[in-house]
Amino acid sequence: MIKALRGMKDILPDENEKYIYFLENATKLAKNYGFEYIETPILEETALFKRSVGESSDIVGKEMYEFVDKGGNSVCLRPEGTAGVVRSFVEHKFDRILGVKRYFYYGPMFRYERPQKGRLREFHQFGVECFGEDNPYEDVNIILLLKDILDFFGINYTLKINSLGCQNCLPPFRELLVKHLYDIEDGLCDDCKRRIKTNPIRVFDCKNESCQTILKDAPRLGSALCKECDESFEFVKKKLDELGVEYEVDTNLVRGLDYYTKTAFEFVSGDLGAQNAVAGGGRYDRLVEFLDGKSTPGIGFAIGIERILDLIELPKKEMNGYYFGAMDEDAVSLIFRLGHICRKRAKTEISYQKKSLKAHLKAADKKAARYCVVVGENELKSNSVWVKDLVEKEEKLIKLEDFEKGSGL
Ligand code: HAM
Repeated sequence: MIKALRGMKDILPDENEKYIYFLENATKLAKNYGFEYIETPILEETALFKRSVGESSDIVGKEMYEFVDKGGNSVCLRPEGTAGVVRSFVEHKFDRILGVKRYFYYGPMFRYERPQKGRLREFHQFGVECFGEDNPYEDVNIILLLKDILDFFGINYTLKINSLGCQNCLPPFRELLVKHLYDIEDGLCDDCKRRIKTNPIRVFDCKNESCQTILKDAPRLGSALCKECDESFEFVKKKLDELGVEYEVDTNLVRGLDYYTKTAFEFVSGDLGAQNAVAGGGRYDRLVEFLDGKSTPGIGFAIGIERILDLIELPKKEMNGYYFGAMDEDAVSLIFRLGHICRKRAKTEISYQKKSLKAHLKAADKKAARYCVVVGENELKSNSVWVKDLVEKEEKLIKLEDFEKGSGL
């Protein structure tokens, strides 16, 4: 038997219902904030992710679904959505047009990670990206949109924020950190030893407890921010305070992608287990430039859809539409014809199997139909249908001609 690949799964109808419920409502909220839908290809040039997510990141270093296509090009299944949206923004020369652009997107992403609960190799994200706004009000705006989405679905979360500095304050801090890391190198794990050379600030993200213990005395970026980054971060915190949005400043929050500058954030949920980040994002003021565009600030986030679906409960199904059942073989062609008429009005289920009234009522209830329409010998003789309104709990016989016209219910 051929099975789905490890870390990849089918989204079956039951879960799809939740998926659609999530997408519809997240889309509505993103649109309320002025975001417009964008769709970019799932397959992109490998160089796009090397130059944006960063060669030293785990995603590019270890997790890319990368291959050479039949034309000899190195291509890659997107591991995340931001890079493709930025590529599209630059390719279509939106960086040359003044003004703020806001996009949202959703779809599959691919990372060759070790699968476990909440961590897949094919997973889905809902993301937003805003270009052309460097005012820290936008940082707050983006956090508020994400918070509104999570609140809509009743998710329990903690918001963690940090500032990752800019091209002015990050390089001197990095030097300071590297010096410190070499002093404590013997106590670090092999991954962290490697990070000293490739991407030192990622040591703060190490899950190894002994690394975390000896990193306690390491210098932190928070106290090395330049005036501009510091003021911007203070502004974001002040506004969140004013709005009553609770947050924790987490100096270990460095994010797994290299393009971030200034504000970075994650929403984690204690209801999720080890993979507890339900969404993450931040500013990336240099990324458009890295991808050959005109310098344009950017900020966004992405929600892990599988993770949020684990936390969402569907509202009780509204009963609507029709269920048709036959209690007599001769009634099947009639219910087929009536069902066909009703499909133009509402969701309609037709059961071709002859069953008892009780069995039909049970099936109608399972399908969340509002009207259970049953035809048996008596109804055939009297040119009528028997209908039970499963909401009002009313039963009646309706003349065929009335029912066909849509009256009598
Ligand atoms: P990210 O933190 O790598 O950020 O991913 C965002 C979310 O995707 C995570 O918080 C998590 O919920 C989900 N996720 C990540 N990897 C997996 C996985 N293997 N299985 C299941 N869910 C996963 C980004 O991707 C950035 N592009 C976000 C962003 C947009 N930053 C700015 N704009």
